Amino acid sequence: MHILGLCNGQLHGNSEILLKAALTEATAADPTITTAWIHVPSLVIPRNPAPLKSAMDVSMGTNKGQMSGAAPTTAEDVDDRQAALNAILDADAIIVASATYSHQPPGFLKVLMDRIGGPYLDVGFVRNARAKQAAGDPKFADFKYDARLLKPRALGFIMTGGSTTPDQFSMALPTMNLFFYCLHAKVVDQFLGKNFMDAGSVLLDPAVMERSRLLARNVVSQLGKEFDDAAYLGPSEPGACPYCHLSAIEFLHDGDNGVGCTTCGARGKLVVGETAAGGGKAQILPEWEEDSEWSCVTLKGKIKHGEDILSWGSRERGKMAAVEEEKAKWLGVEMPQVPLPSSRL
Ligand SMILES: Cc1cc2nc3c(=O)[nH]c(=O)nc-3n(C[C@H](O)[C@H](O)[C@H](O)COP(=O)(O)O)c2cc1C
Repeated sequence: MHILGLCNGQLHGNSEILLKAALTEATAADPTITTAWIHVPSLVIPRNPAPLKSAMDVSMGTNKGQMSGAAPTTAEDVDDRQAALNAILDADAIIVASATYSHQPPGFLKVLMDRIGGPYLDVGFVRNARAKQAAGDPKFADFKYDARLLKPRALGFIMTGGSTTPDQFSMALPTMNLFFYCLHAKVVDQFLGKNFMDAGSVLLDPAVMERSRLLARNVVSQLGKEFDDAAYLGPSEPGACPYCHLSAIEFLHDGDNGVGCTTCGARGKLVVGETAAGGGKAQILPEWEEDSEWSCVTLKGKIKHGEDILSWGSRERGKMAAVEEEKAKWLGVEMPQVPLPSSRL
């Protein structure tokens, strides 16, 4: 079994230390496990690149625009995307350790996942397409995918931030989960470490170092298990979404007290609980749907979304000829652009 570490913080910072503590613990727990890590902000990703040649095409050859990418503005001779993608696909588990910037994981990891993830790593689409291929659907006869996409994979998320209060982490774990949901890997454990401003300050707090080691042991305990058999071993508050285990909700304004999970999209309803003994306030918490087809964590949710964009894509494409001329007009509009050093390269 192999565990990939992704460090999404400054070099030699808190994320690097917590990641190394976790990977060291994983190999201590099982010496047959191998590990390797990537410092994500150091990856070289060319500007405006076309998708990788190996990228899966969920539009089945119809969406040429998305698949060809914008023209590169300069020739870049280094491109780390395929190596990073191989590292993700070869891994049986991924542990991500990240800083928090403006309440979310720093964008370095988003840039990577926007270039190699999302539709290019959509396991729900692969499972759906394979089923259609097996049923003889001619549209999927030539469908190709990387077989490594289908192996079971576990995930663990470690996040640190400088703030002492939770309001500064509002989208930290939600966004981190969404970077990876397309892979249909099981999130086994996740936590936030607060109060860590300076690089290395995690070492002032033995509890957070131990928490990283616990996360590693939890991940190791679920290695090789299929998504539905692997357990979530991390924290979960009362009323938290049962699919992503986070507590960020949005109101659906459906006249029926409906709420959605901001992270994964599961649906529920706010319900007033029993008045607590001794006159305490009744709790109002979501009651969540079972067997959700809305949560992007579930295979059902992934397949529903895949069907939605496939059918919308074909309806939209049928109308595009009507706006071709107007599109060309807008793209031909000349406007001053900010002069940049890079535009003269
Ligand atoms: C641009 C920037 C934005 C930040 N925003 C937040 C934030 O929103 N919430 C927070 O708790 N910490 C924030 N921090 C602090 C870092 O998350 C914190 O120092 C973290 O431990 C750094 O991890 P690293 O050493 O792995 O880079 C920010 C730091 C920087 C540089």
